[in-house]
Amino acid sequence: MGKDTVTITDNRSGRQVELPLLAATQGPYALDIGRFFSELGYFTYDPGFLSTASCNSALTYLDGAEGVLQYRGYPIEQLAEHSNFLEVAYLMLYGELPNRGQQENFNTIITHHSMLNEALKSFFHGFYHDAHPMAIMVGVVGSLSAFYHDSTDITNERHREIAAHRMIAKMPSIAAASYKHSIGEPQVYPDNSLSYTGNLLNMMFSVPCEAYAIDPVAEKALDLIFILHIDHEQNASTSTVRLAGSSGANPFACIASGIAALWGPAHGGANEAVLDMLDEIGEVKNIPTFLARAKDKNDPFRLMGFGHRVYKNYDPRARIIRSMCHEVLEKLGDANDPRFELALRLEEIALQDEYFIERKLYPNVDFYSGVIYKALGIPRNMFTVMFAIARTVGWVAQWMEMIAEDNQRIGRPRQLYVGHGPRDYRPMDQR
Ligand code: SDX
Repeated sequence: MGKDTVTITDNRSGRQVELPLLAATQGPYALDIGRFFSELGYFTYDPGFLSTASCNSALTYLDGAEGVLQYRGYPIEQLAEHSNFLEVAYLMLYGELPNRGQQENFNTIITHHSMLNEALKSFFHGFYHDAHPMAIMVGVVGSLSAFYHDSTDITNERHREIAAHRMIAKMPSIAAASYKHSIGEPQVYPDNSLSYTGNLLNMMFSVPCEAYAIDPVAEKALDLIFILHIDHEQNASTSTVRLAGSSGANPFACIASGIAALWGPAHGGANEAVLDMLDEIGEVKNIPTFLARAKDKNDPFRLMGFGHRVYKNYDPRARIIRSMCHEVLEKLGDANDPRFELALRLEEIALQDEYFIERKLYPNVDFYSGVIYKALGIPRNMFTVMFAIARTVGWVAQWMEMIAEDNQRIGRPRQLYVGHGPRDYRPMDQR
């Protein structure tokens, strides 16, 4: 038997199969079960994919036990301290940190793709005024393939790159236009003299009737939060993008599918749900009641912003955002935001509770991000939109990585069938 193999014996038939182990550069090896069905006649069963690697990737590495997150091998803490969103976006797309010329060229490309087709602008008016911005984003992003036929040949590497640039560049413009529609204000064009996040703030909050000053604290805080949200291995929305992309769907449709998956409260929708939860808890004295509800299997209430499929330690992104909170709230004049105080006390009490300790439930990236978004003046229904803007870099990078693979195949899982056996149709008068 080979060293890097695992032999599985079927005790029902006595048959054995020797399966190869695939080496990882960091983290667990993977057992290649491609021959499992053909050799033993069984499917493997792993709903929720707790033990299943769906692909190989060189983009992001997580160590859930240690609370480690790396983009292309660089620790998130170092990128958060030294880098900026577009530099990390370049790193994710091209694999290496850019030199100055490469960065300036990339920034110029992204800046000059930020405008939306004028015909697309009227698309927003078709939505009811109180449409959730995430619903608008799904619709508008999905429609981009109707405007950009020149960059949807996924077999063409240059087309893939242009589509990736367009997605990264246009998400802030689409997000801001979604927000403006929801408040009945005119859309604001991108300003090429502004930074990526400065442009977003300007498109969201400026109005034609007066000058708008971008707060540098808000601009930098948003840039940092965006770095933290860029990618996260094969999370639900990224896996959705990959599965959609595996059929050969155009990149804009794939990103729209990722936005739809991100919206769920168990995933990217949690940041909005955390603020709703903090409002529902209201005061520190009510925390025990809500913790009891979170532990009650008969109560659907969960502590939003807590727990993670991979992190069984503190989410390193939550740690960074938590420390940011103090600085940003202080500078933006929300130092005593009761929600931040409540979040700190809720974390402190939950992390001393046996239920949370036993299940290794720690705050995740969404637990504190909403507190900062609120301090930046971003409305609650735009929190997940912020997540989608940043995660678009990860989605397009993962999509490009998958499409470029030599043996890329359509994703088509099997199932454990538990329905009726074969039976005959019965006429109506015999039912
Ligand atoms: C994101 O995958 C990613 O990487 C996602 C993300 C990314 O960057 O892409 O990191 C972003 O989505 C962060 C997660 C945001 N979601 C929330 O904060 C929602 C609240 N969290 C939970 O819904 C839950 O923790 C999940 C969805 C995040 C993880 O679910 P799992 O891994 O399927 O865990 P589970 O539901 O099996 O829970 C294990 C146990 C259960 O109790 P027992 O059945 O063992 O008794 O822990 C309990 C759960 O009931 N539990 C919670 C809880 N989370 C898990 N109990 C109370 N409150 C919670 N928040």
